[in-house]
Amino acid sequence: MSKEAKLELDGKVYTLPTVEGSEGEKAVDVSSLRATSGYITLDDGYGNTGSCSSKITFIDGDLGILRYRGIGIEELAEKSNFIETAYLLIYGSLPNADQLRTFSDALMEFQFLHEDMKYHFEGFPTGAHPMAILSAMINAASCFDEKIMRWQWGKTKEFDIVVAKLISQVRTIAAYSYRKSHGLPLIYPKKSYKYTANFLHMLFSSPYEDYEIKPEVVKALDLIFLLHADHEQNCSTSTVRMVASSQANLFASASAGVCALWGPLHGGANQAVIEMLEQIHKEGDDGSRFIAAAKDKNSGKKLMGFGHRVYKNYDPRAKIIKKSCDQVLEKLKINDPLLDIAKHLEEAALKDSYFVERKLYPNVDFYSGIIMRALEIPVEMFPVIFAIGRMPGWIANYKEIMEEPKSRIYRPRQVYVGRTLNPYVPLAERK
Ligand code: CMC
Repeated sequence: MSKEAKLELDGKVYTLPTVEGSEGEKAVDVSSLRATSGYITLDDGYGNTGSCSSKITFIDGDLGILRYRGIGIEELAEKSNFIETAYLLIYGSLPNADQLRTFSDALMEFQFLHEDMKYHFEGFPTGAHPMAILSAMINAASCFDEKIMRWQWGKTKEFDIVVAKLISQVRTIAAYSYRKSHGLPLIYPKKSYKYTANFLHMLFSSPYEDYEIKPEVVKALDLIFLLHADHEQNCSTSTVRMVASSQANLFASASAGVCALWGPLHGGANQAVIEMLEQIHKEGDDGSRFIAAAKDKNSGKKLMGFGHRVYKNYDPRAKIIKKSCDQVLEKLKINDPLLDIAKHLEEAALKDSYFVERKLYPNVDFYSGIIMRALEIPVEMFPVIFAIGRMPGWIANYKEIMEEPKSRIYRPRQVYVGRTLNPYVPLAERK
């Protein structure tokens, strides 16, 4: 028998149903509370609010567990790759050989952008942030494609095409965004390269000379994509679901996700971590002064790459990334002083009562920036890399919304605390 919650308000008792997830997560269903009692629930920042039921990703923040469709992130990081994991997230299970080939072929087929999109890229000033270009151009891409604009939910074959277009083209757009923001000529994708190698080619080759594709570089970047592929109801994914709930098209929803991801508290944190480490290095600090400032609420500083809304333990992605970081730096024979500062910061913070009491641990962004620096990816591209990686998760969440027969438009309530009825004052009478 399912449990019920009892809530007493104004002398009346309301019975609320409870819901239990497949991993034992418990929730009180308050969806009827306003209709029955006149009360809404108030939860600033949604820290205690479940916005949906989902079958995609499971996180246990206390134990540091992350699973995509039930498979542990550690196992995927070791045995899978980004494209296979993308398929897993979107379609619900690992692909067989035929399904994987069809998916990869579709990614190859749709990797070119419409030629006329070049004119849109030309309109951006040199120096424009690649996240701004990425978001705008994902949305613009839908205007060049009838299938995306007119596609109705329920047409499975068309969904496969639209998905392949988005996953493939986001990478082409991302590389072009970087080239454009540096005033460099655009480089077209090549048929002979797989997904991640092709991205590096479009980013770094010149019209005269192809960038040398090193397997260790491809592997490290592919792992970063895979580790970012989904993370349940975070700020950007909730944004994608919010937009999708109005039945906007997939590209419009994903473009909104890019904007939500851009901020330094979310996908922009990897860029902010490197900027923080560079500042510490420039000031000749070993990290101790910065830690003191991060603990002082008046300093305006935070230890970037630390803390998480859900993880109150080591972020499992951070463990994998830290190991990969050591391997990449060793393979590429790079000695980065920022890595020493990062390690010192981590060691000091994990012993410091401020961070211990608040359960603040390194998150995925703490070491990913150091790897990307070693791969010579420019710092403003770090959130863009995050966006490419997160695309399968956004698509999987979009699909979940569309497949839910009882799906409603997302529309939270509020508690109004502004002025009560207030007469209009004509301009001449205003002080
Ligand atoms: N440095 C110093 N203090 C911190 C930090 C930090 N990085 N993170 C949280 N705190 C403090 C915070 O000031 C608060 O202190 P108090 O209880 O005294 O008021 C306490 O820890 C609880 O923090 P919170 O702000 O309630 O936590 P939140 O769940 O609202 O925010 C967060 C989570 C990730 C935005 C926050 O930890 C943060 O700003 N971290 C730095 C930015 C960062 O690394 N973001 C990447 C997150 S992982 C990638 C992703 O999925 O987006």
